[in-house]
Amino acid sequence: MALRKLVRHASSISNLYFPSTPLSLSFSNRFSSSSTSSSSTSPFVANNSDSETPISSISIDRSSLYNPPGHSHQPHSDSELSKHLKGIIKFRGGPISVGEYMSQVLTNPKSGYYINRDVFGAQGDFITSPEVSQMFGEMVGVWVMCLWEQMGQPQRLNLVELGPGRGTLMADLLRGVSKFKNVVESLNIHLVECSPALQKIQHQKLKCVDEENAAQDTDKRTLSFLVGSQIPVSWHATMEQVPSGLPTIIIGHEFFDALPVHQFQKVSRGWCEKMVDVAEDSSFRFVLSPQPTPATLYLLKRCKWAAPEEIAELNQIEVCPQAMELTETIANRISSDGGGALIIDYGFNEVISDSLQAIRKHKFVDLLDDPGSADLSAYVDFPSIRHSAEEASGEVSVHGPITQSQFLGSLGINYRIEALLQNCTEEQAESLRTGYWRLVGDGEAPFWEGPDECVPIGMGTRYKVHVTLEGPIDGWRFQLVDVSISSYSISGWRFRL
Ligand SMILES: C[S@@+](CC[C@H](N)C(=O)[O-])C[C@H]1O[C@@H](n2cnc3c(N)ncnc32)[C@H](O)[C@@H]1O
Repeated sequence: MALRKLVRHASSISNLYFPSTPLSLSFSNRFSSSSTSSSSTSPFVANNSDSETPISSISIDRSSLYNPPGHSHQPHSDSELSKHLKGIIKFRGGPISVGEYMSQVLTNPKSGYYINRDVFGAQGDFITSPEVSQMFGEMVGVWVMCLWEQMGQPQRLNLVELGPGRGTLMADLLRGVSKFKNVVESLNIHLVECSPALQKIQHQKLKCVDEENAAQDTDKRTLSFLVGSQIPVSWHATMEQVPSGLPTIIIGHEFFDALPVHQFQKVSRGWCEKMVDVAEDSSFRFVLSPQPTPATLYLLKRCKWAAPEEIAELNQIEVCPQAMELTETIANRISSDGGGALIIDYGFNEVISDSLQAIRKHKFVDLLDDPGSADLSAYVDFPSIRHSAEEASGEVSVHGPITQSQFLGSLGINYRIEALLQNCTEEQAESLRTGYWRLVGDGEAPFWEGPDECVPIGMGTRYKVHVTLEGPIDGWRFQLVDVSISSYSISGWRFRL
């Protein structure tokens, strides 16, 4: 098996015991579809016309509009969310930014994409690394344990996950660390999740038992029997709501890509923000703002962090104000309480030009088609995370980005799969190998023998890992980028991978 060749230098020792569970297989991740790329759905890619429009009472430049190709759906009547968006545009007397559109589409409290359903896996729209293989959450667990150890084994620790989806990463992480009583007993788990439907799924996945007398629908839920001790778990709508005062480890996997981006296009009069309007035939369309918008401040900030030559080459720029602000919050929290943050997402180590995309049922679709029925996401701008963290706190140190493949490799995924392969059925072994390859491989799987449209696509280099850390606790520093773990010790036990 070709995949086996990837799993080299196998160690017979894997003292961390992680029970094997059935693994999910081979659905497209958010960048694996063989259908159209994001740029081909962008209205401005092929249309760079640049004429001036005088500012009139309706302050919209319609000159460089592009008619998107026919929608991928049969004509349909407007959904609740479409009506809502059209209402905002109508009553506000003009278009809304792409950022506001994205925010409404994903998280509108009544009918946003994430709010009422499970969107993951074969029946959903896309698949993520924790859903691909249990090894992903387990490796993040190893990272958490290493950090906890290097922090001087704090007795209380806030473990925060941003946007936990189905709760799979956290469940695999907790199962992995469950042998380490000191780690487990230190944990206060905080899940930052906007979706009531996903909160419910996370609650079930983690086998939470609600505390007696807890309010029915809110915060106080207790995870009781997972590791035979009481680990408090609570849900929050935002990172700011997570209580401060304890060392804190924050994990965000595919969270930043869901934060709303604002898009700008360069025309002769300068940078104009791309907006969403309603056309005469009542469909949504893109227009350009003729004058600076509030998000322009973030564009200026982002350009300041880039080399002038990098900006000069671009005709479009995407910025994510919420990512910048969230990073500041994280950096400040880590600065004051101690801890670390792990951000894993697809993205680039450069200014992002135009990456916003819509995915429905594992295929790219038009961004404006039936809003709320497809996932919207954008590549993460890693340098802006670095700069936001460093500006927020001079003491924060930022490492990376490195590739997911480097990250998982340095934490010992090769040894982990070897250990799992020693005790499984042939079917599970096939699943493990495919999952492993999807986590660390690059491009189309060379070993695939099934139908072309199902070929597994590697996430190993597209996904990047950024670590933001600060060291007020006993002067510890965790140098992820330099680390090449072949052995480590936790709670006095020495492990060789
Ligand atoms: C792409 S999913 C990733 C899920 C999970 N981390 C995984 O990798 O499988 C994004 C997650 O973030 C949540 N989310 C998106 N935007 C959010 C926001 N503004 N506030 C809180 N949660 C949000 C979604 O409901 C979902 O759980």
